[in-house]
Amino acid sequence: MCGIVGYVGSQSATPILLDGLERLEYRGYDSAGIAVIASDGSLQVTKTKGKLAALRELVASAEPVGVVGIGHTRWATHGRPSDENAHPHADCHDMVTVAHNGIIENYATLRAELEASGHILRSQTDTEALAHMIEDELRQTDDLAEAVRATLARVTGSYAIAVVSRAHPGTLVGARMNGPLIVGLGKGENFLASDIPAILRHTREIIPLDDGEMVELTADSVRVMTLAGVETRHAPTHVDWDIEAAERGGHSHFFAKEIYEQPDAAHKALMGRILTREPEPDLALDALDGLLASGRLDAVRRVTLLGCGTSIHAAMIARYALERWTRLPVEVAVASEYRYADPIVGPETLCVAITQSGETADTLAATRLARDAGAPVIAVTNTVGGAVTRLADATLYLQAGPEISVAATKTFVTMILTLYLLGAWLGRQRGMLPEAEQRQILHALMDTPELMRRTLESLSEGPNAAALSDAVTLLKDCHSALFVGRGAGFPLAMEGALKLKEISYVHAEGFAAGEMKHGPIALLDEVTPLVAIATASATYEKIVSNIQEARARDAYVIAIATEGDDSIHQHADTIITVPAAPEAFTPLFSVIPLQLLAYHTALARGCNVDQPRNLAKSVTVE
Ligand code: F6R
Repeated sequence: MCGIVGYVGSQSATPILLDGLERLEYRGYDSAGIAVIASDGSLQVTKTKGKLAALRELVASAEPVGVVGIGHTRWATHGRPSDENAHPHADCHDMVTVAHNGIIENYATLRAELEASGHILRSQTDTEALAHMIEDELRQTDDLAEAVRATLARVTGSYAIAVVSRAHPGTLVGARMNGPLIVGLGKGENFLASDIPAILRHTREIIPLDDGEMVELTADSVRVMTLAGVETRHAPTHVDWDIEAAERGGHSHFFAKEIYEQPDAAHKALMGRILTREPEPDLALDALDGLLASGRLDAVRRVTLLGCGTSIHAAMIARYALERWTRLPVEVAVASEYRYADPIVGPETLCVAITQSGETADTLAATRLARDAGAPVIAVTNTVGGAVTRLADATLYLQAGPEISVAATKTFVTMILTLYLLGAWLGRQRGMLPEAEQRQILHALMDTPELMRRTLESLSEGPNAAALSDAVTLLKDCHSALFVGRGAGFPLAMEGALKLKEISYVHAEGFAAGEMKHGPIALLDEVTPLVAIATASATYEKIVSNIQEARARDAYVIAIATEGDDSIHQHADTIITVPAAPEAFTPLFSVIPLQLLAYHTALARGCNVDQPRNLAKSVTVE
């Protein structure tokens, strides 16, 4: 986690750094700071516990003026959130300062060595050691990049760092190892950042650094090299994201904006993949051409879907269709558990790594394990050039546009869509999915954006809006809520519960409805509502029985049902309806009322929707 930004040029660095940090706050927000080489040659570090607003206040009272600087927004790993643990960190003489995202694993040894040789460390962070080590190295060389390289040679762990020194006032140095870092190219100015939105106002030409690379930036030059000092060349990538796409639009929160963007995101996810050729659509996943040509898919006998959190829920939902369409066994593995479970994996396992950020440490580690065991790897991610893409043989991008709110919404639905495209493609390649059936799937996928739009519309007024409001009135005062479903409705229930708990802090759990009677039913009472996914499906009758069991225990039942289902009124207290569609595709829009339930409950409880406590958008530590 943590976001870093750096600037070197001729403009005042402070507003550029603060603006960049604002766009990176989703990566962590328990403290923030900037360091600027001031025009009088001093190093001015301003940092504080708390959110960026607190830093802005401090800066307003004494704005550092200079044309080179770095900034950081923190999600604590080593050392609690505090002023002294906030980044950037400086050496003994306030000569060098470092902003860091990641974990220095051997920091205890490094710190002990530094202290033994007389350095005074002022924080509990692992990062501060880097500043003091660079201080030492600068006694051997006056080249800042060289000093950073020599320092990093002694470091194990993960990092993306930005470094400036008042002895090198026109230079900014960055380096990465298992942490995101991009270079932004300007005219007479250059940038460093953890993520594209931080610098999009200033440039659209970016170079994503690879793991094990570093960069030395001046206002007019960019020198990329490996950590061994070998210069490397990268053609810049032009980013054509609309700047507005990274803003809130007309919504109060990114979370709401991103919920309402889902029809558009779904449409974009299908673009260039489902070719609407007359008379029938066709499926083209060009990104998989190389992998297909390599012949490695011929050996595949099973599929493992890897991910964490919401991404694993998307995987669990897609698994049903993937098995049906490919006739391959599909395993869904929680990435944080996978590599410690001695997994069965090799060239016969197609590993699909699902991560919106492309940077989740657990997912990367599990994917690396599968890749090293010989498995062909497909990454499913939203982040162009993210770390997972470098582990993968092929990447299917979600094409969802930036997702800023910490809690995932549009990347969840685009993950399912992308996995469905993969399943329909693989099914055909393997000769298991008849052409006519693939066409039906493509038609159903193409219908999705419109069904999402209808679902959103129906929730803004009329009976669905009233039902949503009733449900929120109840949920906002609850201590706990249970979510249940069957088939793909089960992981959907888990996703609904995750959204509610993470942004409104109402305790919620999702269960397979049939499992209720084996334990969770004991939790039900008149103040613990049940949210039941009761849309039309092969197991509809069974879920109705489960709802009745709950009602018999005085539970209040909120049902998500299919439009036109009149019988559900006998069983549930509050009913929100969604359009009818083939069963596999229903979760793509029946998740919307669950997202809105969480949103309005969080609002009613006065929670910080976009930045829930203790969370970060991108979890780059294990
Ligand atoms: C929940 C949420 C998290 C992420 C998880 C994985 O709303 O956003 O559970 O899904 O941290 O993140 P990615 O997909 O970036 O690997």
